[in-house]
Amino acid sequence: MCRLPAALLFLSLILFSLFSLSIGGDILTPTHPLRDDQILISAGKRFALGFFSLVNTNNHYIGIWYKVSSGTIMWVANRQHPISERNGSLSITANGTLIITDQNSKTIWFSGSSDLASPVAQLLDDGNFIIKEAKGDSNIVPRRLVWQSFDYPTDTLLPGMKLGWNLTSGLNRSPTSWASPSDPAPGPYTMFLDLRGDPQGILLEDSKQLIRTGPWNGQSFSGIPDIIRYKVIIVDFVIKNDEVFIMYNTTSTSIIARHTVNYTGQVQRLVWLNDSQMWSIYMSKPKDLCDYVSQCGAYGVCNPGDSPVCSCLQGFKPRSPRNWDLGERKDGCVRMTELDCWNGTDGFATIEEAKLPDTSRSTVNRSMRLDECRATCLRNCSCTAYASANINGTGCIIWTMELTDIRVFTFGGQDLYVRLAAADLGMYYFIY
Ligand SMILES: *[C@@H]1O[C@H](CO)[C@@H](O)[C@H](O)[C@H]1NC(C)=O
Ligand SMILES: *[C@@H]1O[C@H](CO)[C@@H](O)[C@H](O)[C@H]1NC(C)=O
Ligand SMILES: *[C@@H]1O[C@H](CO)[C@@H](O)[C@H](O)[C@H]1NC(C)=O
Ligand SMILES: *[C@@H]1O[C@H](CO)[C@@H](O)[C@H](O)[C@H]1NC(C)=O
Ligand SMILES: *[C@@H]1O[C@H](CO)[C@@H](O)[C@H](O)[C@H]1NC(C)=O
Ligand SMILES: *[C@@H]1O[C@H](CO)[C@@H](O)[C@H](O)[C@H]1NC(C)=O
Ligand SMILES: *[C@@H]1O[C@H](CO)[C@@H](O)[C@H](O)[C@H]1NC(C)=O
Ligand SMILES: *[C@@H]1O[C@H](CO)[C@@H](O)[C@H](O)[C@H]1NC(C)=O
Ligand SMILES: *[C@@H]1O[C@H](CO)[C@@H](O)[C@H](O)[C@H]1NC(C)=O
Ligand SMILES: *[C@@H]1O[C@H](CO)[C@@H](O)[C@H](O)[C@H]1NC(C)=O
Repeated sequence: MCRLPAALLFLSLILFSLFSLSIGGDILTPTHPLRDDQILISAGKRFALGFFSLVNTNNHYIGIWYKVSSGTIMWVANRQHPISERNGSLSITANGTLIITDQNSKTIWFSGSSDLASPVAQLLDDGNFIIKEAKGDSNIVPRRLVWQSFDYPTDTLLPGMKLGWNLTSGLNRSPTSWASPSDPAPGPYTMFLDLRGDPQGILLEDSKQLIRTGPWNGQSFSGIPDIIRYKVIIVDFVIKNDEVFIMYNTTSTSIIARHTVNYTGQVQRLVWLNDSQMWSIYMSKPKDLCDYVSQCGAYGVCNPGDSPVCSCLQGFKPRSPRNWDLGERKDGCVRMTELDCWNGTDGFATIEEAKLPDTSRSTVNRSMRLDECRATCLRNCSCTAYASANINGTGCIIWTMELTDIRVFTFGGQDLYVRLAAADLGMYYFIY
């Protein structure tokens, strides 16, 4: 109910030249720059590219938007370098660099150096804006692509865009929120792919971790198990030798979708409803207190269904009982009985439906079986827990550090095996 006014409000913040003309195509050549009052339209008429400005500002930007939803900008070229007057233009140089110039022909933004002999820039029907070689026999040598907007996301991932790393070049695609609804400059929130240990998606606020997706378990992120219930969106997490990335796609190209980090710090997945002409939010994170990183400290468990939400893992007690009782739980919990790692008497407590603890300092082996995983953990004095790397029971994650940021779900979580001394194995404390 309250979505519509918000959508209208946002719509009204973005202005176009009312009489924007399509220059009759999807390409830009060195002899045909794009003026402020012109737009490019992709071949299937899905996306448009051109100048836009924001209400109550004189700032002009080059952006890309879905044609059906011109009030929501998917990509901004010069997000930090607006043109303050009309009469800007976007052009491609003879050797293949995109440049935005102001009315005095001063360069405001450029796409990086390139050495193409006969370049064109083209707006594709997936929303990607690319620079490639115009000529050449494409049957023999594929036309060289030297730059693409998909590699430099603003705050939005379109279907088919990658979030993450090219390990060869070091390119890191990490969308950052707008500063405010009227300023596309980078704001504090960044979606980031942390490669350490078993890779995880992280929402950063400046450099502080706000939300952690947890590792990918072959089907979903450990911390977002309900992904598998989404009918129209496919999520893929690819870990290869030369690249690691997360990618969203739709089950059909007729579905208009986006994945955005809002200036409010919400990560949202939205689909366009043709009938009501608005975006519907069907996932938004954080959803509850337990989505925020490490609410309950080391060896604590966050359960949004409990009050208070924090408890200690079986076999652990609050580190600072007084603070804990006062509601300050970030100190976390400590072991009741020290592990006895030499005599083989330690065992494991199973935490069911868990979001796996922070894996940035864990070790992962994708081929190890679960029984080998358990044995490996028991053999290593510093091992504190283990779990399957995949939901199907294959692979092994081993933690040798404190276990942080554990939560439980009502469905879709994974089994986590926490190492305990024999004395703590049979006990169930519901006191804390
Ligand atoms: C950001 O979130 C707010 C509140 O949910 C919403 O009103 C606004 O439309 C969102 N902005 C974008 C660009 O989706
Ligand atoms: C923009 O360019 C047009 C034609 O080149 C010119 O008539 C107009 O004065 C310019 N406007 C501004 C604000 O410079
Ligand atoms: C491309 O052309 C621009 C001038 O249009 C020049 O300044 C630049 O050095 C050229 N870059 C390369 C890599 O040749
Ligand atoms: C990664 O970057 C390298 C160097 O720029 C490039 O050759 C390679 O094609 C890129 N890999 C992928 C998968 O895009
Ligand atoms: C389990 O899932 C992983 C990753 O999705 C896959 O590589 C592996 O082949 C699967 N193993 C079995 C036994 O299904
Ligand atoms: C995304 O899905 C569409 C079909 O819905 C498919 O045509 C397209 O190739 C997919 N894109 C990628 C990058 O996998
Ligand atoms: C929504 O409308 C657009 C533009 O008219 C069309 O391309 C798309 O197929 C429609 N999507 C659905 C799911 O009907
Ligand atoms: C385990 O072994 C150590 C050293 O060998 C010994 O001191 C200790 O008492 C043993 N603990 C148990 C529970 O058997
Ligand atoms: C992973 O586990 C398998 C099976 O136990 C083992 O053969 C392999 O050496 C392990 N890989 C690494 C990198 O430790
Ligand atoms: C225990 O495991 C950690 C992480 O895999 C490893 O760095 C350490 O060397 C292991 N210790 C022993 C004694 O195997």
